[in-house]
Amino acid sequence: MVEKRTLCVGLCNLDIIQVCEQFPLEDSDQRSTKSWWQRGGNASNNCTVLALLGAKCELLATFSDSEHFLFAIRDLQRRGISTENCVFHEGREIPLSTVWLSANSATRTIVHSNPNLPELTVDEFRRCNLKCYSWIHFEGRRSVDEIAKMIDTIKQWNKTRESPDRITVSVDLEKPRDSNSQLIPNVDIIFLGKDFARFLGYNTPSKSVHGFKKRYPGSYTIICPWGNIGVSALDQNNKYLCCGVYPPTTIQDSLGAGDTFCAGCIFQLNQGNSLQKAIEYGSQLAGLKIEDFGFDHLKDKIDQLK
Ligand code: FRU
Repeated sequence: MVEKRTLCVGLCNLDIIQVCEQFPLEDSDQRSTKSWWQRGGNASNNCTVLALLGAKCELLATFSDSEHFLFAIRDLQRRGISTENCVFHEGREIPLSTVWLSANSATRTIVHSNPNLPELTVDEFRRCNLKCYSWIHFEGRRSVDEIAKMIDTIKQWNKTRESPDRITVSVDLEKPRDSNSQLIPNVDIIFLGKDFARFLGYNTPSKSVHGFKKRYPGSYTIICPWGNIGVSALDQNNKYLCCGVYPPTTIQDSLGAGDTFCAGCIFQLNQGNSLQKAIEYGSQLAGLKIEDFGFDHLKDKIDQLK
């Protein structure tokens, strides 16, 4: 039998990264200590990490035919991340993030632009053969109406399948937007980001998971990673779990740490491992990720993980 894939649905963009001793002053002119560009976007980063972990995965995103996008596409290809269902748009620009990593405060500041690349539609999503996937992960984007229909498509599919053939659905609710709540029905796992949790009025991961489930009751699992504070989770039966963080002595690059955490959890849960094991693993993986620049260094460190 062919191994089923994890499909990540969301953004693919280009990140241009500058490492500064400290966050730049407005209207100043200075040199960075290091710079590079890499493929980015939450779903795209999830795939990078899953591929490094050795998982079979696919990215579903919209692509532009701009020259700069070729860089991203080649990078996906060289990592064996499938893009066969991605949708090309002619004459559109690549979504671009400029990112400042500040060495002395260990922050990552992102300025993002996406002038004209259309979001994925449910009709485009329906071209994917759902037989190929064991897990589909969505990034909570502005196009919530379309994403909610995609999730509903999977719900209908799951109704007609026996349990080994059912697809697990997860969603990453990170951006502070009311419309995120439309993505809650019919998902199995919610990753609740700190920014969205704060937007809803919660100030700790534990209050977030409890408060969120009270506000939006359902039989989903919720996982809330909260920077250097820790991770809280409630499973589908509302059993509370938590774990700590594993920060390195020096934080070099926290860009995509949250995406790394989600990928680590998905990787474990998709193999049938427990929620406790998944959050511990995600947390350790994110700790390793921020120790060095980019993602590739993870490959040599994965064996350290318990
Ligand atoms: C990190 C990231 C970056 C991208 C930005 C988009 O989580 O996906 O790669 O530039 O967020 O919001």
